[in-house]
Amino acid sequence: MMKVSVIGLGYLGVTHAVAMAKLGHQVLGIEPDATRLEALEQGILPFHEPDLGEGLKEVIASGLLTFSANHSKESCAIELHFICVGTPQLAVSQAADTSYVEAAAKELAPWLSETAVVAGKSTVPVGTAQKLKDSMSAVSGFEVHLVWNPEFLREGTALEDSLKPDRIVIGSWSQHGFDVMRKVYRPIIEIGTPFLEMDVPTAELVKVAANSFLATKISFINAMAEVAEVSGADAVALAKAIGYDERIGNQFLRTGMGFGGGCLPKDIRGFVARAQELGVGSAVDFLKNVDSINIRRRDKVVELALSELGELGNKNITMLGVSFKPDSDDLRDSPALEIAQRLQALGAKVTVHDPVSLEALVTRSPELGQEQDLLEACANADLLILGTEWKEYKDVDPQKIAELVATKTVIDGRNVLNVAKWQSAGFKVIALGRNIHNG
Ligand code: UDX
Repeated sequence: MMKVSVIGLGYLGVTHAVAMAKLGHQVLGIEPDATRLEALEQGILPFHEPDLGEGLKEVIASGLLTFSANHSKESCAIELHFICVGTPQLAVSQAADTSYVEAAAKELAPWLSETAVVAGKSTVPVGTAQKLKDSMSAVSGFEVHLVWNPEFLREGTALEDSLKPDRIVIGSWSQHGFDVMRKVYRPIIEIGTPFLEMDVPTAELVKVAANSFLATKISFINAMAEVAEVSGADAVALAKAIGYDERIGNQFLRTGMGFGGGCLPKDIRGFVARAQELGVGSAVDFLKNVDSINIRRRDKVVELALSELGELGNKNITMLGVSFKPDSDDLRDSPALEIAQRLQALGAKVTVHDPVSLEALVTRSPELGQEQDLLEACANADLLILGTEWKEYKDVDPQKIAELVATKTVIDGRNVLNVAKWQSAGFKVIALGRNIHNG
């Protein structure tokens, strides 16, 4: 058992704190936001994430996770500090805002012992760790052991991904750094998880490289969808066919409205900005295309709605699902949300249904209508758009919906509906990347 701290209790931090406590470590969670801290102390998650709420309650009850608003003497006895604060996109450019990581490192530095290890988990532009190490060492008066330990968890399966990751990546300047990280992750290493030791810049790059690759894969299939739409082909069938080739693989080839969320979009933009600073902008120039292919999918859905409905004034559009992916209430850079906002701005009356995200939507986009009941949400709709592939939309009986809508037209923005079933309920089904014949 080790004493560890987790600094910054956002998505990544809460998940990591619970995971560390579940491994048996004594964890101190540090979060300056008073409202968030108070909720967490009561075992309440400030966002939706399957299994994490139960895990949080469990580790609070066992006494393995405690909280604090800031560092105190307690921090001096801690062997390992994880920095998990956010690195959002800057408002003024596409680059990542590293001010929160810098502030977290600065606040931590005076409390560090000479053997303490600081592990950065936030996604940062390559070169950030070196700056943090220098600034912390200047305050502490000794060479701080800083390691970089990127996190690959996905929303919706965050806790499972943390406890059973595909790999653990550690970049360190010192052997001591590797040893401490091996110790904290021992139970995960013992179940056969690869533990990869490398230099710090490589570890920083691994994360943005992985996310860039995933984003590229999605935009690749969405680019094929654009071609399919004008050539009578079917991008879903195409994805299946190329995915059988093991070198390509069938994951992350789901064509539709494209990627969103708090990671993929901002990470590819931040990577482009950093590469430009380093004088190798052209090396990752293709990521700009990856971004624009992704955004064009949103444009496409708006165009389809316009061509179906003509003028949008007084037209009722129901958006089924608004989070950027299912099993999450995260609205950051959500394709479904942006499309709903654009259609509303064009004059439509948009009603949003989502199993868990409506609370978050009130503050985010109060101009949009909301309805918690799925069937009620579809009543009198001139157009349905499936924006997030929640299971309940795949399972719903289209016959029931057919009785309620004003016009039986659905745009499947995620390619998950059973087309034959919806068509036999009388629906015209339009899907991205496909040419569906509607009788
Ligand atoms: C991602 C990475 O997967 C994870 O490793 C990293 O740590 C954080 O960023 P996450 O943002 O939770 O995780 O979501 P992910 O499952 O990667 O999906 C991202 C977006 O791509 C979603 O909007 C999803 O709907 C979309 N997507 C995914 C597709 O459009 N098609 C696909 O085939 C896969």
